[in-house]
Amino acid sequence: MKNTGITVCPLSAYTGAEISGIDLREPLEEEAYLEIRQAINDWGAVFFRDQVLTPAQQLAFARKFGKSEEDTHVSNMTGVDGLPEVKEVLREAGDARNIGGFWHMDQSFYDLPSCFSVLYGRELPPIGGDTMFSHLSAAHDSLSPGLQRTLERLSGVHVRAHADSSEINSAASGLSFDYYVESCKRFAGIEATHPIIARHPETGRKVLYFSPVYTDRFEGWTRDESLPLMKYLTGVLGKPEHTCRFRWEQGSMAMWDNRAVVHYALDDYGGHRRLMHRVTVDGPWLEQSEKES
Ligand SMILES: [Fe+2]
Repeated sequence: MKNTGITVCPLSAYTGAEISGIDLREPLEEEAYLEIRQAINDWGAVFFRDQVLTPAQQLAFARKFGKSEEDTHVSNMTGVDGLPEVKEVLREAGDARNIGGFWHMDQSFYDLPSCFSVLYGRELPPIGGDTMFSHLSAAHDSLSPGLQRTLERLSGVHVRAHADSSEINSAASGLSFDYYVESCKRFAGIEATHPIIARHPETGRKVLYFSPVYTDRFEGWTRDESLPLMKYLTGVLGKPEHTCRFRWEQGSMAMWDNRAVVHYALDDYGGHRRLMHRVTVDGPWLEQSEKES
């Protein structure tokens, strides 16, 4: 492969790598996109520093990895600069609510969720507001063969309205029960079922496709029956060895593969404004992992 000058520096044993030696304002050579894609396949999430990007430049970069998605479903996020695909993820200084403060993959409550998310830090708090990532293949591979075989037979039901229920359950959320009821009406019926163990279409690795909040239950099980095993899997996702923590700086941009990692927006910067711009793109979705009888 041609020397692109790109350096990939892993942040942990399983997930997250910083990519340096690159300026994303202008189109790159095709080899550079291939190298970035390989780094995402290797690490699930990659991070760029010191980038000065307009929303249009961020969108152009993201489109190199798939078709950009304009979320035509009901959403809390608005587009910026006349670009509906570039969504504001905004928390004002006075907001108690922290969007995405739980392990999740973006839009798993749709039949075809986003493949890649590209998040640029536009206005950051002076400290805090880091994002954590956990690799779904590391989680899968750490399970015993017996539990892997059991999970191979299960699917998870992912429910949109649960994003708000998780925040209702947080004493600091500032959200009322009435807000939750409204949210349930607004997002009623937005749910999707995905295999708990799936195969990544590019790496061939198996993943534990599970979110402690969006996954409501195992298909065919009651929620009460599902909760004990889901609680165990939550601990597996959150095992520190499976994670990395990305500290945002001015000019930082993160890009991750929602088929390979879950992420978690830390809620430790209350009283400060934080504005991020997010673009999501589509791509080949997870494949059914072979089931054993
Ligand atoms: Fe997210």
